[in-house]
Amino acid sequence: MTRQPNNNRKPAASDGSQTADKPGFAARKVAADILGNVVHKKRPLDGELDTQSGHSGFRALAGNDRSLVRAIVGASLRHRGEIVEILTRLLDRDIPEKTGRVLDILHVAIAQMLFLDVPDRAAVSLAVDHAGLDRRARPYKGLVNGVLRRLGRERADVTDELDAERLNTPDWLWTTWQEAYGEDLARKISSAHQREAGLDLSVKGDSAEWVQRLEGVPVGAGSVRLVKKGAVEALEGFGDGAWWVQDVAAALPVRLLGDVAGLNVADLCAAPGGKTAQLAAAGANVTAIDISKSRLKRLSENMQRLGLSVSTVASDLRRYEPSEPFDAVLLDAPCSATGTIRRHPDVPWIKKPYDIEKLSEIQAELLDRVVDWVKPGGLIVYCTCSLEPAEGEAQVSAFLARQAGKIEVVEIDAVEIGGLTKCVTAEGYLRCLPCYEAGETPETLGMDGFFGARFRRS
Ligand SMILES: C[S@@+](CC[C@H](N)C(=O)[O-])C[C@H]1O[C@@H](n2cnc3c(N)ncnc32)[C@H](O)[C@@H]1O
Repeated sequence: MTRQPNNNRKPAASDGSQTADKPGFAARKVAADILGNVVHKKRPLDGELDTQSGHSGFRALAGNDRSLVRAIVGASLRHRGEIVEILTRLLDRDIPEKTGRVLDILHVAIAQMLFLDVPDRAAVSLAVDHAGLDRRARPYKGLVNGVLRRLGRERADVTDELDAERLNTPDWLWTTWQEAYGEDLARKISSAHQREAGLDLSVKGDSAEWVQRLEGVPVGAGSVRLVKKGAVEALEGFGDGAWWVQDVAAALPVRLLGDVAGLNVADLCAAPGGKTAQLAAAGANVTAIDISKSRLKRLSENMQRLGLSVSTVASDLRRYEPSEPFDAVLLDAPCSATGTIRRHPDVPWIKKPYDIEKLSEIQAELLDRVVDWVKPGGLIVYCTCSLEPAEGEAQVSAFLARQAGKIEVVEIDAVEIGGLTKCVTAEGYLRCLPCYEAGETPETLGMDGFFGARFRRS
């Protein structure tokens, strides 16, 4: 019997609009797009995911789809090295360039299949649909289907003996970490990058009280780590400006200035103001200087919410000249941010050795400039959220050599930073690693990578 056509049925759309309407399709498409923008065009992930100015497709999505995009792109970047290796095992030959989004579509699908709780069927079918809708990827629709189905069938074999820690770290970063910290710590650092960072708060008042009120755990030198997840704005104390979000390690450099009450302190490279808030809350008269007007605006908004008063100056430190020297200076210099990979999994894939070189030149220039901005006998703290010795230990050695006779290192005592002995180096510097514990309980594992050094002007 031949089947009669059903004239009541809507004809299939030939423009792919039916596929585009499939639940979850838009989120996958946006995820592949954003992944491509990050890894090929080196656009920072934060910018792409900005709800005001980010990727237009992302902004058009509903809240749950946005969360899905964040999760997919995050997993694709955290496990990028593993996914590349898995594709090498699955593909007989390289996929030629100029095939549109094929590789990004595959990466996004594999991240869902292996690292997120997405059923294989959904991940494969949406990836195949996506390839079918992309003009240049269309010829590879069959390949996308075949590769992903094979991964589903042969998952155990294909993922056997993957050295995740090594694969997920680009060679140049691995080399510097291995040289600086040894293989064991390099592996632990890489492994820490697979976990999302916790949420830490700095508080204006008594931190023990906020540990109790927010049911958190104490970490570092008076920070509170939240254990429950939820919207920050909805938490007790946010509206009253009782605390601000700041990683436990990022809160340590200000501690190195000691009691700052009543002192005139220059907070250099200040925005968005985590350290400014610490200084102002401790009673310092703060002059917060930053090159970026828009970031300074955010700093002012943050201080307003916290009910803290500071002076702000929008200026390039390379041109600024203070009218008189300060009692103390904090320089939180621009850096590669490799200490924040847990929060910014794009960093290993958008930064290059050249960036570190350029940034360390700027750091040296800023250090040499601000050394005269502190009164004789005053303290200077230099810090970066970087794991690279070029932006930390080596930078400081060179600074000390250039400024011999003018400054001396004031070694850090672990007592000043909440007893975190691991975070103090033999030279008396601060060196936090993402694999370190910030307290006593299991929830306290992990902190941003940070470097800090303290000098006194003689
Ligand atoms: C690591 S962030 C500062 C974070 C901030 N201290 C905090 O705790 O919230 C570095 C800052 O340096 C600023 N910056 C970069 N180059 C600068 C320069 N030449 N002069 C002044 N600020 C600069 C950037 O705009 C950025 O806000």
